[in-house]
Amino acid sequence: STAFGYQNNRLHAENVSLSELAKTYGTPLYVYSRSEFEQRWKAFDDAFGSQPHLVCYAVKTNSNLAVLNVLARMGSGFDIVSQGELERVLRAGGDPDKVVFSGVAKQSSEIRRALEVGIRCFNIESHAELDRIQKVAQEMDKIANISIRVNPDVDAQTHPYISTGLKDNKFGVDILKAPELYEDACACSHVNPIGIDCHIGSQLTQITPFVDALKRVLALKDTLAELGIDLHHVDLGGGLGIQYTDETPPEISDYIQALVKELNDPSIEIIVEPGRAIAGNAGILLTEVEYLKPTDHKNFAIIDAAMNDLIRPALYQAYQEIIPVEPREDGLDAEWDLVGPVCETGDFLGKNRRMNLKAGDLLAVRSAGAYGFTMSSNYNTRPRAAEVMVQGDQSWLIRPRETYEDLMGSELLIKD
Ligand code: LLP
Repeated sequence: STAFGYQNNRLHAENVSLSELAKTYGTPLYVYSRSEFEQRWKAFDDAFGSQPHLVCYAVKTNSNLAVLNVLARMGSGFDIVSQGELERVLRAGGDPDKVVFSGVAKQSSEIRRALEVGIRCFNIESHAELDRIQKVAQEMDKIANISIRVNPDVDAQTHPYISTGLKDNKFGVDILKAPELYEDACACSHVNPIGIDCHIGSQLTQITPFVDALKRVLALKDTLAELGIDLHHVDLGGGLGIQYTDETPPEISDYIQALVKELNDPSIEIIVEPGRAIAGNAGILLTEVEYLKPTDHKNFAIIDAAMNDLIRPALYQAYQEIIPVEPREDGLDAEWDLVGPVCETGDFLGKNRRMNLKAGDLLAVRSAGAYGFTMSSNYNTRPRAAEVMVQGDQSWLIRPRETYEDLMGSELLIKD
């Protein structure tokens, strides 16, 4: 990624100095590169060549309206998992006809809203959900296009919490049971099966599991064709990994071309739902060192960002690079645990990081564009960080830092 690099020994986002951004907006601060979002999205779109396709960015990854708007302007589709995400897509200028709706627990009201605005497809995950979609669509006298999320039972070889394609998790339906469900869907008066989908996990660093999943999905597609059920698309979900440290994930183009080659049918549309591979390295989290606390056993650098701002290290023991904004030689050179102000032992963003530090230094936590802000919380009544978008030498505040009024202004005292 070229979005974040040093110019004159100062870390920049594109051509904007991060020190300047910290001065203007304070820390902790999420900083995103518009060019990086655009290039990564375009790499997916271009790799398909003449194959019919739709790149549906997974909104959960980073759902700031400015981010969605940047992608919508390029013609992106969107993968949503709630009405909230649908409302974001609509506000950001996204086309509802390019929206696919995933998730195991769609409420009737969410289904109603999605039918009202005319989304492209519901990715359904159970028989009960099929029944509910049929009921709501019938009440509205609309036809719901659906796809069934199947569980191809391939091992994504990633962290168990973000691996979703194995038999024993809550997602999708057993691929062997899927034909029955498709037949039931065909019998529904207000449901129209148009595709098959799967999502086998996240942060995959190999192509093979994706191709294995596609093979199984295509075998199912053939079985369905024999039953007279012809489908228009296959949706392979998201999951392509990024480089956090020394991983070597496949290039976007190699991954997409492997899918196109395996499909080997220019009449079927391929949908993908990438999130991390587009957003991950398009963002950093900027934080300031509040205190240095060297001890006999461990050296702590206490920073102003915490697990409530970026929970991945605490939740998954995820490793994200942490680098100084203005590297120095004259501070305290040691191995630091970078810990936040939250009252939990698990509140760290990095451990055993060799760095030369002084209190007041700015640090950048890399690869924070995906599952960073969207998983943040107000734990310890900490206002959520501000977010800034950079392009060239321009920057825009795209979400102000939360105020205490934002945090508690709507709460009510009991009356007695
Ligand atoms: N489609 C579906 C149905 C999904 O469940 C997900 C992510 C995606 C697409 C996008 O996957 P991606 O391309 O980003 O791998 N919070 C975790 C990741 C959870 C992923 C959940 N599903 C993390 O921070 O690593």
